[in-house]
Amino acid sequence: MSVDGWERRAPPAALVIFGASGDLTHRKLLPALFELYCSNLLAPQFAVLGFARSPLSDDDFRDLARQGIERYARHTQVSDERWRTFSEHLHYRAGQFGDPASYRDLSADLARMDRDQGTHGNRLFYLAIPPEIFPIVIEQLGQASLNAPTASSAFVRIVIEKPFGSDLASARALNRSVQQVFDESQVYRIDHYLGKETVQNILAFRLANGIFEPIWNRNYIDQVQITVAETDGVGTRGGYYDKVGAFRDMVVNHMLQLLTIVAMEPPVAFEAEPVRDEKLKVLKALRRIPVERVGELTLRGQYTAGVVDGQPVAGYRGEEKVAPDSWTETFVVARLEVDNWRWAGTPFYVRHGKRLARRVSEISIQFKRAPRTFFAGGERLDPNVLSIRIQPDEGISLRFAAKAPGPTMRLQEVDMNFLYRRSFGPLDQLQADAYERLLLDALIGDRTLFTRADEVEQAWAWADTILEGFRQRAHDIRFYPAGSWGPAWAEAFIERDGRHWLVGVQPSTVSYQPSAVSK
Ligand code: NDP
Ligand code: BG6
Repeated sequence: MSVDGWERRAPPAALVIFGASGDLTHRKLLPALFELYCSNLLAPQFAVLGFARSPLSDDDFRDLARQGIERYARHTQVSDERWRTFSEHLHYRAGQFGDPASYRDLSADLARMDRDQGTHGNRLFYLAIPPEIFPIVIEQLGQASLNAPTASSAFVRIVIEKPFGSDLASARALNRSVQQVFDESQVYRIDHYLGKETVQNILAFRLANGIFEPIWNRNYIDQVQITVAETDGVGTRGGYYDKVGAFRDMVVNHMLQLLTIVAMEPPVAFEAEPVRDEKLKVLKALRRIPVERVGELTLRGQYTAGVVDGQPVAGYRGEEKVAPDSWTETFVVARLEVDNWRWAGTPFYVRHGKRLARRVSEISIQFKRAPRTFFAGGERLDPNVLSIRIQPDEGISLRFAAKAPGPTMRLQEVDMNFLYRRSFGPLDQLQADAYERLLLDALIGDRTLFTRADEVEQAWAWADTILEGFRQRAHDIRFYPAGSWGPAWAEAFIERDGRHWLVGVQPSTVSYQPSAVSK
């Protein structure tokens, strides 16, 4: 990844989207492509070929694309002229995902695009389909010889959406099926959190500023908290979510990625392999949670009916496509430890939930107390906290104690605040959506912000004992009303360590006690 990110431009290429009639294509991929086009970051010789079973014509696909772009792109004012020039690049091919004839058609379409649109034999395949179909498409691409470039100067790459497996065995099986057809250097596994500006900025903050690195360790840092709180429920994705739950959906990928970026050693170079090597080392150092301690070191919850943003909302069990007696978690906290010299003894608390009181993703790094308190009441103030706000209200603040003006030495906590919108303007207008950045990187061939096979397997290897613990304690779920900060137990969970949540505080009413094993 280079520092001049936005000066980079994609080479000529054809982007084939499998699952082009679906939600991700509509809400994220096509709006992101349109933005790249408007920013002049796509080559004039680009073509998009949507593929799915739905019998759409090119015009139907273009109409759907325009609706998605007008609704979800950052620049929603789409002039007719701009639309005409962009939409000429969009095409659609209906077919069956497991049918070799469909891939022969695709091959012919791509050859025609090379000839008519100058895409130079460069292909980017994007799997925006349900994960059970990933292996089918990958195998068919191999059988149709679409996995290898037709010329030595051309590239063929594949982008694979999440979830990448649901446990270690399935992640390994998927990696095997990918690697039978593609070389690892062709594979781009998406974790869209890595595409967020504020996540990339953690690396800039740590590594481009000399003052933080010397104190970025167990000697100075008391604890790290990673909170991803959402006000949304599961929406229309209940069918997927009910099989997966909050831990698999958010913790094993996005939240572990945040953790690795906070905890990793500086890489020897800012390139894909050195960066991913360091992230992998953190994942290897994550202490495994034994099955019998899962009830003590993690906690799960599920939302019941409540009020969010002033609106009454249904409980999880009343959501569309969710089993009415579901025991799937929509909230999870876990106490993690990174067993290496930098972090030994510093807990990393991760906390995520849907239908919480406020939408906020934040990494809070609390430093140790000053060794001595000189001032009356000083011990009641929190030690310094560095808050990295991923979204919303993007920015970074440092909390410290200051003397409140007046005749006495009275202390008060104050914040030094960096706000994106103040320094750079509103993030949604100035900065790319995560998918814009990741699509551009995949077209350019930069894998820094994509996860590698061993990283994904290492994350699942760590998660496996926890999943087994969850299985053995299937009903060990605490309920919380939508619009709260999760089950009251979550407060007790951290208070027993003599700490409290630094985001979204709610006084505890219970003392922590893991419940008995229940199947
Ligand atoms: P959708 O169900 O909306 O779309 C799936 C697409 O795959 C459709 O185009 C559908 O088209 C095609 N498809 C082929 N076979 C099937 C099948 N058996 N069942 C359902 N659809 C099928 O899914 P999303 O667009 O939401 O998700 C696509 C991928 O992206 C998934 O892997 C998902 O986990 C991932 N993802 C999605 C996110 C989102 O916000 N939507 C966020 C993060 C990841 P047709 O019926 O025409 O063949
Ligand atoms: C997705 C999860 O990967 O990330 C969703 O499947 C979650 O459940 C989403 O809501 C959160 O992404 P963001 O960018 O809105 O924080």
